[in-house]
Parts: sequence; structure tokens; C-alpha cells
Amino acid sequence: MDEKERILFLRKELERHNQNYYLRSKPEISDREFDELMHELMDLEGKHPEMDDANSPTKRVGSDLSNEFQHIKHQYPMLSLGNTYNREDVRAFYERVKSGLGGAPFDICCELKYDGLGISLIYENKRLKYAVTRGDGVQGDDVTANIRTIRSIPLVLTDDCDCPDTFEIRGEVLMPWDSFEELNRQREINEEPLFANPRNAASGTLKSKDSRVVAARKLDAYLYYMPGNEMKGVSHYENLQAAKRWGFKISDAMKRIKTLEELYEYIDFWDVERKKLPVATDGIVLKVDSIAQQEQLGYTSKTPRWAIAYKFEAEKARTQLLDVVFQVGRTGNVTPVAVMEPVWLCGTTVKRASLHNADIIRSLNLHLGDYVFVEKAGEIIPQIVGVDTEARSFMPGPEVTFIKTCPECGTPLVRDEGMAAHYCPNDTGCPPQIKGKIVHYISRDAMNIDSLGAETIEDYYNRGLIKDVSDLYKIKITDICGYDRSREKSARKIVNAIEKSKQQSFDRVIYALGIRYVGKVAGKILAQHFKNMERLSHATIDELTEVEGIGEIMASSIVTYFNNPINKELVQRLQECGVCMEMPEVEMQSNVLEGKSIVISGVFQSHSREEYKAIIEMNGGKNVSSISSKTSFILAGENMGPSKYEKAQKLGIPLVGEAEFLGMIGEKDEDNL
Ligand code: IVH
Repeated sequence: MDEKERILFLRKELERHNQNYYLRSKPEISDREFDELMHELMDLEGKHPEMDDANSPTKRVGSDLSNEFQHIKHQYPMLSLGNTYNREDVRAFYERVKSGLGGAPFDICCELKYDGLGISLIYENKRLKYAVTRGDGVQGDDVTANIRTIRSIPLVLTDDCDCPDTFEIRGEVLMPWDSFEELNRQREINEEPLFANPRNAASGTLKSKDSRVVAARKLDAYLYYMPGNEMKGVSHYENLQAAKRWGFKISDAMKRIKTLEELYEYIDFWDVERKKLPVATDGIVLKVDSIAQQEQLGYTSKTPRWAIAYKFEAEKARTQLLDVVFQVGRTGNVTPVAVMEPVWLCGTTVKRASLHNADIIRSLNLHLGDYVFVEKAGEIIPQIVGVDTEARSFMPGPEVTFIKTCPECGTPLVRDEGMAAHYCPNDTGCPPQIKGKIVHYISRDAMNIDSLGAETIEDYYNRGLIKDVSDLYKIKITDICGYDRSREKSARKIVNAIEKSKQQSFDRVIYALGIRYVGKVAGKILAQHFKNMERLSHATIDELTEVEGIGEIMASSIVTYFNNPINKELVQRLQECGVCMEMPEVEMQSNVLEGKSIVISGVFQSHSREEYKAIIEMNGGKNVSSISSKTSFILAGENMGPSKYEKAQKLGIPLVGEAEFLGMIGEKDEDNL
């Protein structure tokens, strides 16, 4: 087998193992063996760019290409379903179907209603062609690159699969509970706003411009509907069973029933069982099974007459509000937290619930001592959804209002209108912010000083050993352990780890400073663009927002940070301690691109986009992210973003292909010789 044959073989093998793992839950090989095969395929594909295939299993890891979503019109509109909330409405639906079919016998296919976002997948010649969101029902966003990272969605169907040449299958993209919890755990550490439920998390993820983010967040998908008449089956159930054989994830909960009693049984059974599922469900969908009968019943303008959703009632508990406390986080964000009489809800005891912000407190009109309703409907974080005003005592407790000053340092709070949040602006003098900032600085994704932890930082801070992160670099072994020889070894380890952190890259240093809203990815973008701390610290809001990926809120937070003399001095002290404040020097190859501003767009064969960015700089050129009249040319690969293409045409900016570009800088494009 030569390398090209091996590529084809590995693609099929990996796809088969993928299905064994994600669809059948029966892996034949270990994760490690799987990774080894994947790496072998990646290496071989790197060597043979001419074999590039958008549906290769390697594409499941995502890419940093920005997908400026194109709109795609749905072949059949994506309708929603009528909702019902009680048995009476279910019965009414059943009766409507019965009379609509003139008394003919019919089956109902019962399914779970998955709580994620609808997606339409188009396959052509056994290959995934497009994945489109519901959008406005008529047209949606082309999210194909992101959908490719979902491992339970087949990219290429097997040769022996008897599917039509072209077909559409629809379903729901979901974030499983454990991925959701892990994501929120990470966001809490980074003080980013939490996702209220897996649906919001899945939707935010699928709209991400960076499919590597999507790949990392581990989405899943269940398919439940095949519009169009290419399918051979006479019923919805048969069509989905065929899709299951072709490798799609179809729920085993699907069941055909005939009577209303069976229907109620199904509802009762799944209202309990669904709590054991790995993904969120919020009801049951009932569909007339026969395709002919579906056609007979037809559609209203918004919903099919042959299907309906029954929504489960959200679980609620009633308990007493004892107190509201205000917590101050690392970036000064003040979060109101309700303290309640412990109450049992959906398998856990709930005693605290985030009240999020001042607007929510106001809208609830809360008084201390009130009886409140707590809900966890698809929301893993308990929420107070209302007050039992009838049970409010004759002399209610004081109204809950948002505090005006920081509970930790007394500084007047500032309201951040954009985020509807309050924060304590005393970021250099408020103890939880100071300690939180140091803990953030040492954290794994920042400076990774792993021999220190939150408790040690608290201890050093209380002992007056450190007042800010620059003090870490002044700590001596004897400061930690005194003259106790038995503790010297661990103290030495800490001092060495702190010393080693000076070698961490510039992007990590930016992230480690803990500037509000500047996360890991922003750290990378800023480092790449501004190259050193001197330039970053003097950047204006306009200069910052010009950078792709930096919005106005973040830009203004960065400017505010560097305007504060205390922060400026801190950065200065870190620099004096030897912390890395710049990107490594690029070795110049030539100056053939001197004076040229170049925009990169599309997919390339010989080098990655990051490599091209470096190549441009090594040859004296400037890499810019957006097209303007000042752009010299566009280095254009395949599938260039449509909006960029249009803009280039309008401004008359020349497009330079990959081979031509490599010729300009004197590197040969070996595939085109
Ligand atoms: S069938 C014409 N089946 O619920 C029928 N939808 O409120 C098309 N949903 O937009 C939909 N689980 O995103 C169908 N088993 C299921 C479903 C389901 C969840 C979602 C879907 C749809 C929404 C309707």
C-alpha cells in the first residue's frame, strides 16, 4: 500500500472506529490507538496536500479559518411544532388527526423532544455537503465546518449504504450534560459569564467563528426527520431506521403506538427516564407515522398538522429566601447570590441560587423572608423564577436591592451597561480581586506555576509576603520555610517554578495579567498583532477594534487597564523581573514584500494560514486582517470568504494565488511544478 492508498484506508478505518465509539458505544480499539491512527493520517495528509478532502476525519479537530457564515436557503422550510402542555391538548391532537383521516387507522411515532438547536444536513453522493441552521425557517447559516467536528455525524457514508444520491436529514445539535458542566467550570475559573443551559451553550458554540472551539466543546447530534420524497420508506419510522443503518444517530426511544393510552404511558415513562439521559430533553414529539397520511393532513403556515410537541413541566420547588449575599470575583464582578432554606429539587439539595444581576433582582421584587419558586428546567444552575406573593407575610422583610458599595473594600460599584453587571473598580486595592488576580496569574493556562495553589496564595497574602504578582519573583526560600530544613526542598521547588515562569510566552503573560474580558484566545490575538507590551499598552480603542476578534468592550477594558498607573507600574516591575514582554524576533528572509499590506483568505495547500502570516513578515510584508483601499493584494486560497471576495472586487484589489505567492518569495510550490 503506498502513502496515498494508506490515506484512503485510514480515513475509512477512522470513520468506522468513530461510529463504533459514538453511535454503537462499542469501541474496538483504545483511545490511544485511535489517536495514533489519527496522527498518522494527519502526517500523511500534510505530505500530500493534493489529497485534501473536506470530509476527512482529520477535519473533526477543526481549523482556525474564520467561517463567515453564508446563508443557504432550505429546500423545504424548517417549521416549528405546535406545543401542548397537558393531556387534554394531547387528546385534542389525537382526535383532530383521527377526524382528519376520516376514521382510518393510524400509527403515531413517539419521540423525545431534544432541547438543542435544529440542524439540516444535506448529503450528496454519500458525502456531507452542507449543514445549515434553522435560521428564520426559510434560510439558515452554513455551519458545515463546525458541524464536521461533531463525531456522531457521519461525513462519508459507507460504500454499501443504499441511500438516495441526494437527501436531507434533520435533527438537533446538543451539548451533553458533562461537556456543559465542564465548559461552565472552565468559564467560572476564567470569570466568563456562565451558560444558563446546554441549549444556549450549544447554540453559542455552533455560531463560533473558530471550528477548533467547536471541536473542543464536544457537541452531539440526534437526527429525527427526513423531509422530501427521495426516501423509499412508506413511514417516518422506516425512513429513520434506514438512516440508522447508514450510520446516523437515531434515538432508541422512538416508538410506534396506536392508542391514546399507549401515548400517555410513553409520556409518563419518559418523564422519569429522561433524567438519566446524557443530553437535555424538554418534551415528547408525536408524529403521524405514515407519509401518505402526513400528506393528507398537511400543514398550517407555521406547523405541520401531523405532528405536535408535548412539553414536560419544569420541576419546581418552593422554599424560603433567607438572605442575599454579594460575592466579589477576580475581575471585581459582583454577583448576588440568594441563600435559601435547603430544598430537594431534581436529585440535589438546593440552598443557593445566583440572582445574576440587578435587573433580575428588580424584576422579581424580592423581599427577605419571601417564599420563592426555584426551578431547574434544563438549567443545571438553579434559578429563582418567582415569588409566592400570597404567602408573603403581612409585614414583609426588607426589599432586596443591589448594593451600592463593594462588600469587601467599600468602593462605590460601577454598572457595566453592556453586560448588565456591577463591578468594583478598585481592582488594585480590593482583597478578593488582588488574591484572585494572583491565583489567576499562576493558573495552568496562564503562567502555569503549578507548585502554588489558591490556599498558598491566600497564606502568602495574609503573611504580607505578596501584594501583587510581581512580588512572587522576590520570594526567597527562607521567606517560605524559614530555617526549617525539612521544608526546604518544597520551598526550593516553588521558587524554581516561579523563576521558570519567566519563560512563558508573551500571549500567556497578556492573559495572566487578568485584564477584564481578555481570555486565552484574545491573549494570542493581541500578542500576534501588537508583538510587544509597549505597543499593546499604548494601543487606542480604534487600533484595538481594528484587530479581528477584538470587540469594543474588550478594547475599552484594555485601554482602561493600561491607563491606570498602578497597572502600568506593575507591568514595569514584571518586566524588570525578567517576565517575557514580547514575541520572539522573526528571522528575516528577504525584503521582497516590503511596504506591502497583505490579507490572507481561504484554504491553502502548502502552508497553514499561521505559517503564511509568519512568511509574510519574514519577507518584510505586513499581514492585515481586513481589506481596505490600502491593501496591496490578497493571498487567496481555495474557498475564499464570499464577503472578502466581493470587497476585493469592489476595491479592485488583486488576488494572488498560492503558487504565484510562493514564486514571489522564491519558494517553489512543489505540487505545481
Ligand atoms: S420534528 C416538521 N422531532 O423542536 C417536524 N423536532 O418546536 C420537524 N425538536 O424545530 C421537527 N426534538 O428543533 C422534531 N424528535 C424531534 C425533535 C424536534 C426536538 C425541535 C426541533 C424543532 C423544534 C420544534
